Amino acid sequence: MSQSVDLYGTAYGNFATHALEQVRRETYGEDFGQSSWVTGQEYRRYFRLLGLRATDHVLDVGCGSGGPALFLAREIGCPVTGVDINEAGIRAGLALAREAGVQDKVHFRHADVREPLPFSDQAFDALVCMDVMCHLPDRRRLFDEWRRVLRPGGRALYTDPVVVTGLVSNEELATRSSTGYFEFGPPGVTERLLREAGFEVVLTEDVTDNEVEVSHRWHAARQRLAAELIWLEGEETFAGLQRFLAAVHRLTAERRLSRFVYLGRRPGP
Ligand SMILES: C[S@@+](CC[C@H](N)C(=O)[O-])C[C@H]1O[C@@H](n2cnc3c(N)ncnc32)[C@H](O)[C@@H]1O
Repeated sequence: MSQSVDLYGTAYGNFATHALEQVRRETYGEDFGQSSWVTGQEYRRYFRLLGLRATDHVLDVGCGSGGPALFLAREIGCPVTGVDINEAGIRAGLALAREAGVQDKVHFRHADVREPLPFSDQAFDALVCMDVMCHLPDRRRLFDEWRRVLRPGGRALYTDPVVVTGLVSNEELATRSSTGYFEFGPPGVTERLLREAGFEVVLTEDVTDNEVEVSHRWHAARQRLAAELIWLEGEETFAGLQRFLAAVHRLTAERRLSRFVYLGRRPGP
């Protein structure tokens, strides 16, 4: 069985190192500090799908290192609040916001989103959640919270990179979930839970291609920088992350696991 491996602690703890910057550049082309499967082109499309405007306050659930929240704020000109359970990620986000001089517009807060969100009712116009949902239990309760913090007419867009669309062995599932807690489910479940929580499901789309390409480039970039990364991460973590990325690539290329994007809307004006 696969050993567990700390992807986010490694990525956020070493966020500003030359090696990780280089890996992100080679992986994503446009590096805005992401550690998911999302590229700049894909994220910009999601901003359009959400119909974001400069006056919208956006909540980024599982904001990682904060780079994606700053990217969103730069592209749209809107205020963004990011929450994540990983303290190194929040520290990296706060440092980025300070460096960019946007602390008044982009806020970060350490929070475990399995708990009630630390925000008042209807505090946000929109919500993004990129490749985080698979780490969270009790999705229905989470959607209730999203509905509470969104204003009527507010939109929520999220991706799930581990939708089960084929046959996967227990060993493959163990390697795919070696970076933390994971929930795997078939197509259709998340839409039903969104509806039960009172959302209209506006869009469901297969976006697996991005995960196929990003996982391949991420693995190749890390392999090229192996010496530097082994020095930073240690041999065991390096090998574990390479096994993880290879499994992601194989399972998505063969469409046994797929990535979907979902757009929900809280009914209202
Ligand atoms: C794949 S990363 C995505 C990060 C960011 N959205 C991005 O696009 O770069 C998943 C993130 O979910 C966060 N996460 C996992 N469980 C969480 C929880 N219970 N509460 C808050 N954040 C959580 C992890 O710390 C990690 O930063």
